[in-house]
Amino acid sequence: MIDRMQVGVVYYPEQWDSARWEADIKQMREAGVTVVRLAEFAWCRMEPAPEKYTFDWLDEVIGLFAQNDIAVILCTPTNTPPRWLTDQHPDVLPINASGMTTHAGVRGHRCFNSISLKYYAASIINQMAIRYGSHPGVIGWQIDNEFWMLDCHCPRCNTTFRQWLIQKYETVSKLNEAWGTIVWSGEYSDWQQVTVPYGGSRFQNPSYLLDFARFQWDMMELFLTEQINTIRQYSKQQFITHNFHTYPPRLNLHQLGRALDVASFDYYPNTDPHKQTTGPYSGALSLDVTRGIKRKNFYIMEQLSGAPGCWFPSWRAPYPGFIRAFTWQAIAKGADKVLHFRWRSATIGAEQFWQGLIDPSNVPGRRFLEFSQLAQEVNRLSPKLIDTTFQHQVAILMSHENMEAMRIQYQSDGFDYYENIKDYHRILTKLGVGCDVIEVGAPLDQYKLVIVPSLYVVNEETANRLEQFAQAGGTVLLTFRSGVKMENNHHIETMLPGYLQKSSGIYVEEYDAIGQSTQAIRDEDGETYTASIWCDIVSLQGAEAIAWYQDEFYSGTPAITCNRVGKGKVYYVATHPDEAYLRKLITRLAKEQHIKYDANLPDGVQIIERFNESNKYLFIMNLSRVDVTVPLESPGYSLLSAEKREKKIELAPYELDILEIPLSSG
Ligand code: GAL
Ligand code: ZN
Repeated sequence: MIDRMQVGVVYYPEQWDSARWEADIKQMREAGVTVVRLAEFAWCRMEPAPEKYTFDWLDEVIGLFAQNDIAVILCTPTNTPPRWLTDQHPDVLPINASGMTTHAGVRGHRCFNSISLKYYAASIINQMAIRYGSHPGVIGWQIDNEFWMLDCHCPRCNTTFRQWLIQKYETVSKLNEAWGTIVWSGEYSDWQQVTVPYGGSRFQNPSYLLDFARFQWDMMELFLTEQINTIRQYSKQQFITHNFHTYPPRLNLHQLGRALDVASFDYYPNTDPHKQTTGPYSGALSLDVTRGIKRKNFYIMEQLSGAPGCWFPSWRAPYPGFIRAFTWQAIAKGADKVLHFRWRSATIGAEQFWQGLIDPSNVPGRRFLEFSQLAQEVNRLSPKLIDTTFQHQVAILMSHENMEAMRIQYQSDGFDYYENIKDYHRILTKLGVGCDVIEVGAPLDQYKLVIVPSLYVVNEETANRLEQFAQAGGTVLLTFRSGVKMENNHHIETMLPGYLQKSSGIYVEEYDAIGQSTQAIRDEDGETYTASIWCDIVSLQGAEAIAWYQDEFYSGTPAITCNRVGKGKVYYVATHPDEAYLRKLITRLAKEQHIKYDANLPDGVQIIERFNESNKYLFIMNLSRVDVTVPLESPGYSLLSAEKREKKIELAPYELDILEIPLSSG
């Protein structure tokens, strides 16, 4: 289905005088746009009264796009139910834990379990699919917009949750056991007593709260698949996606991703100059996380076009080159389509200060010119790049269940599951080591090194798979807070790291949750580093220590250990070391596994390698505000400037290059 890379925009024809459509669309084409997204918030224009449909305007717009060779992605409009629906069927509206209703007027005012919503969603989606499901101008669909966890407390969610629990546990006594409700006299004697979590405190039973999250994930998956099934009745060729946003989400991306053909992300890299040492790296992680959802390339449904605002005070103006550079970063990481949000800044409604590519004056400025340059480049290079693939040898394993479980219960002051993933990922990026961020449980065959931060909720099977991976010659890196919980979120009754004890060759005698305090660690070379957040006090059970704590009553005991397992190794990082130590450790692991890394990448530069049968394509991006010189390992041909590059490459702020390097030359 995917034959070319595309760059485009998000457009809201319903928010502009129809007299402007044609000129807008022509201008898009001239700028190099080949794809647009339409209709995500336009329910009231497509169905102004119950089951009265008005699609003429949309027909006309799609027709105009088709005439201009611009492909359309249509959205199901369920993020914004129209007034008649919320008036006549208020059960559509979600209710939060304090009993407050989310009313119409903004967006996201829909409960995923509402029967009325599902009924009217099915009707309009059915109509849309009949009309556009085989329309040559429409290439795909986006379901709803930017899902997030509603924690809805409406009556329907209560009954649905209860049914879900009955299915899972069958009897109240099994439920009591699974949740450990005897604590604080919380035992249920009747299913009717079981509700979604009220209670006015976040410190509710952790087994209950984790099940409530799982329930919501299942219901969102159902909401998604119901919409997909409706579209699929009339649409056989078009792709179906959803635009995830703002990581880390409380959603289960991997679970929701299963129903999609392709995952999408809304990418708004931070324009703040003070965030420039971290922002581009957390952006890199977001993109790797998105590629990991389906373990294949993805789309960006909304990409930064100017300064975001409205929902918060406006961000800083994007520095010259910023918009183009971060779109290229997304493409380099696997985004085969990137749609900029939005064509023109709104002149009406609450989002007037979230900048589009063109200002309300409609006078094209700096941002628009930068965008057109980018669009032309992507159109030109797409044939070269579209079939190239990644050959990553490193994976970070991520688990939404773990993330949620550790969100439910504090670990230590400053502990954050996703931030820890960021720290490991940033080191890899700084070393120029490409990596995949995939679900715990995904196949590991292609990897040599697997980094598994805080595998907190774990079953025996997962533990065994990691052990087998090491047996076969792989390296596994585990960290503190692993093997703590069983799937029902009960604490395990063995020494930690529970099921991972055997492969790690250690056990945790006790721990010191040092939080924001620091602890010195010293490695085999006698060098000293700092660590924070957590210190497991470890007993060696076959593993050897490679670094030791220097402070506290456990000074001299192991902080980092390594265990030989079959042909491979399992490292256990019992604390959270600083960046310098992590860099040293990851470099050691890369060397041991013959994974290529680049110790000389200047700060702020990211590289990405992609391959086809004959060439390597090396993306070199300066995502910083200073000039940099990047040494080259082998000469290459610059696709952007059509010149040869020999030993080094000089990049101005937010400048980039893409080199074609024949595989024969390394
Ligand atoms: C996204 C959303 C868009 C738009 C944009 C700017 O989160 O999907 O519809 O609102 O943010 O706020
Ligand atoms: Zn609800």
